[in-house]
Amino acid sequence: MKSVKVFAPATIGNIGPGFDVLGLAVDGLGDFVEAREIPGHKLVIEDIFNADHDISTNPDKNTAAIAANEILRMFNIRKGIGLIITKGLPSGSGLGGSASSAAAGAVAINELCNGGLSNDQLIQAAMKGEAYVSGGYFADNIAPSILGGATLTQSINPLKVLKLGSIDELIIILITPKIQILTKDSRDVLPKNISRSAFIENMANTASITAAFCNNDYSLLKDNLRDLAIEPYRSKFIPGFDKVKIAALDSGADGMAISGSGPTVFAITNSKKKAKIIEREMVHEFNNHGIECNMLITVPSKSGTRIIKAN
Ligand code: HSE
Repeated sequence: MKSVKVFAPATIGNIGPGFDVLGLAVDGLGDFVEAREIPGHKLVIEDIFNADHDISTNPDKNTAAIAANEILRMFNIRKGIGLIITKGLPSGSGLGGSASSAAAGAVAINELCNGGLSNDQLIQAAMKGEAYVSGGYFADNIAPSILGGATLTQSINPLKVLKLGSIDELIIILITPKIQILTKDSRDVLPKNISRSAFIENMANTASITAAFCNNDYSLLKDNLRDLAIEPYRSKFIPGFDKVKIAALDSGADGMAISGSGPTVFAITNSKKKAKIIEREMVHEFNNHGIECNMLITVPSKSGTRIIKAN
């Protein structure tokens, strides 16, 4: 009986202004999915480890299993498969946890069926899984988690995703306040329309950040990491957000934004020494608001979802 274990990295959806289109894979965090052939013709979830909230073991309600079943559908195969999910990412944290599980589920089943699906097919299958839990159809977490580096979703239907590259100098300070914000809820608070000035600024910043990742240009990223369209609405759900941002910038960060739909925020620098100070000051400010945090100083992950064990 074959088995395969896969790791899918965490991601920063939106990279600030690029709502639903830009995303970046990061090092050091992610989810694992192990898939193994079992007797029978059904896909079942055998175990879920390290989950901080209840995650459904019903294959119709679980992001990794939905993605996995979608891959089986693409191959037109019915097989007995057992999934073991190990969460490295908290739920509702803004680090693309449901996307990572879905990406790992899709890639694991593709491998178990001897591979052959394109990246676009893997992304499409994983998007089905994520859509179930997030209430939206977007690829800004799934695409970088599968492909690595930064990605741009050009279109959802038909799916067109561009891999942009990475920025060698970029150091990311990720601070995750220990509160949960579900993507579904934080999409519901967004207005249907935005002002012309916010649209123009976000469009210019998104285009500039796209160019920054294509050209490995840290300066271009730091000069454009500003989101005028979405942040004003979502920041209200993150206690102390404005003060944390001031603390980040005052202690030397070149920018700070919400990761995906929050509550994780990320600051950027190109100095290892500054990163430690920025991290300390941001955490201190969250603590002042009575909020405990997890924190990580990291870099972009150039690799996407990968097989770490196959038997
Ligand atoms: N683009 C999505 C959003 C990402 O901001 O709602 C969710 O992580």
